Amino acid sequence: MSWSVGAGLEGKVVIVTGACGGIGRAVASAFGQTGARVLATDLDQSTLDTLVSELPGTGHRGIGLDLNDSDSQDELIRLATEEMGGPYVLAHTAALLIRRSSLDEVTEDDWDSQIDTNLKSTFFLSRRVANAMKKAGGGRIILFTSQSWMTGGFGGSAVYSASKGGVVSLSRSLARNFGPHGITVNTIAPGQIHTSMLMTDLDPAVYERMRDETPLGYVGEPDDVSGVVVFLASTHARYISGATINVSGGYLMY
Ligand SMILES: NC(=O)c1ccc[n+]([C@@H]2O[C@H](COP(=O)([O-])OP(=O)(O)OC[C@H]3O[C@@H](n4cnc5c(N)ncnc54)[C@H](O)[C@@H]3O)[C@@H](O)[C@H]2O)c1
Repeated sequence: MSWSVGAGLEGKVVIVTGACGGIGRAVASAFGQTGARVLATDLDQSTLDTLVSELPGTGHRGIGLDLNDSDSQDELIRLATEEMGGPYVLAHTAALLIRRSSLDEVTEDDWDSQIDTNLKSTFFLSRRVANAMKKAGGGRIILFTSQSWMTGGFGGSAVYSASKGGVVSLSRSLARNFGPHGITVNTIAPGQIHTSMLMTDLDPAVYERMRDETPLGYVGEPDDVSGVVVFLASTHARYISGATINVSGGYLMY
């Protein structure tokens, strides 16, 4: 075997959801550097157009859509399959976090929107992508949970944490079901990564405490995560499936 960071990804089609977000943008750029062709998706088309024009490499596309809409998911798969040749990787970073300072403030809308975006659409997107991957003989599905799947979250994120616990359980079920088709399914659990999701409505004291309690001494940056995503998509991770990868700078140890 020859060893390189993006082994096996040259020319492959990689779907990156949440591509305009903090982590998604870094992930899309990292895949571009491996020679993969990125199909970037997020809510806003014009932001995606700029993103795609700036990605390293060639052959990338961007499509603005809401992943909570099933017709939009169909369109994403159609584009990946009919216009790009079929997906090899799904790197699914898109998610929604609504913080509430007390449980009494949580609304039913908070509950529905976070479960729909973080858990329900993840199931249907993974199933659609896997069905396309099966025809090609395999692929890689990389989902995103959070340290909150285990801790219950910090900073008013009870519902988000529940949704991310569901992602871990779901990914293990998907790994069992898709493994026989040559598809690995893994989940990345970031600790704290410096993005707008982390910082929105976060009490500065909570941020400082998390930073001070992280053995590596800083809150992570998106590129502290993107390399793990590329590794899981690469040939080198071919025997890893059903794993939840803790990327927290040592803040949590499990
Ligand atoms: N930043 C952190 O500290 C942290 C910690 C733990 C887990 N995570 C997880 O990492 C992943 C990336 O987080 P981030 O910090 O980059 O978040 P972010 O908010 O910067 O990016 C998320 C992206 O998802 C998109 N999105 C949301 N709902 C969508 C929908 N219905 N359809 C299409 N796109 C939609 C948003 O537009 C946004 O661009 C998420 O799954 C998040 O839960 C992040």
